[in-house]
Amino acid sequence: MRKKVAVIGAGNVGSTLAQLVVQSGIADVLLYDVVEGMPQGKALDLMESAPLWGVSVNVTGTNEPSDLEGSHVVVVTAGAARRPGMSRDDLLGINADTVRSVGRDVALYCPDSVVIVVTNPMDVMAHLCWSVTRFPPERVMGMGGLLDSARFRTFVAMELGVSPQDVEALVLGGHGDQMVPMPRFTTVRGVPITRLLPPERIESLITRTRNGGAEIVSLLKTGSAYYAPAASTFQMLRAVLLDEKRVIPAAAYLDGGYGVEGLFVGVPVVIGRGGVERIIELELNEDERVFFEISVQAVKRLVEQIVRP
Ligand code: LAC
Repeated sequence: MRKKVAVIGAGNVGSTLAQLVVQSGIADVLLYDVVEGMPQGKALDLMESAPLWGVSVNVTGTNEPSDLEGSHVVVVTAGAARRPGMSRDDLLGINADTVRSVGRDVALYCPDSVVIVVTNPMDVMAHLCWSVTRFPPERVMGMGGLLDSARFRTFVAMELGVSPQDVEALVLGGHGDQMVPMPRFTTVRGVPITRLLPPERIESLITRTRNGGAEIVSLLKTGSAYYAPAASTFQMLRAVLLDEKRVIPAAAYLDGGYGVEGLFVGVPVVIGRGGVERIIELELNEDERVFFEISVQAVKRLVEQIVRP
């Protein structure tokens, strides 16, 4: 039997992700949104692309939460995107109620699913989703670090005039303005960029990565990025569906790891069928630890605002 993926929120990220899943042919897709007709229309449009991609998947659109039943993976993209001048954190009040209600539906209709949270501010929304569903923490994760790392890889590749495929990068911490790009773990075919670029150039690439989302928001003016966010989410989704054991930076529940207690923060994890199957503990140097701690505190402050004890 084919697996079923539920995409909650049929906006730009949700529908682009749905298209990637359809093209890959690895799962059926349920596209859920509260707007009447919209997820149904997008689903039908996607379904009509299946013969062209040569895949045999079903795509359904719905406004009915009970249709979540049978979903193996749920991706939460529902909520407002930011506009120019807003930080991801400014979306907290707007998106918390949406994610709370989605969490309740997920717990009710697909209690065995793995949940990937994309809605911003992502680390906090992952925490909220976990606390509402009461799922084991390994079955809830947030997408952010992979996107931020992809941006860092892109900027390093542009700077050095090499293919982005040959650049590996790592960004830790929350998916907010205090995220922590890690030059020591950012390499071109194994060579750390600290040996390839002067410190001031690396610093400017780090700043561009931190502002990567905002750079696109300021260009689009009416919304935020969605091609790279959808592609990043697809990688995580595929790792779960195909039990790939991929090593991916993602927001995962830390229960003492990295010295963090009871918080979702971006760290490298192994993703497979069970969700976050392992947390990879890196040894951070003093500077890295300071920046990581600043980012953790920023996430913690937001969590305290919305998660009721
Ligand atoms: C970004 C949003 C998706 O980073 O958080 O573009």
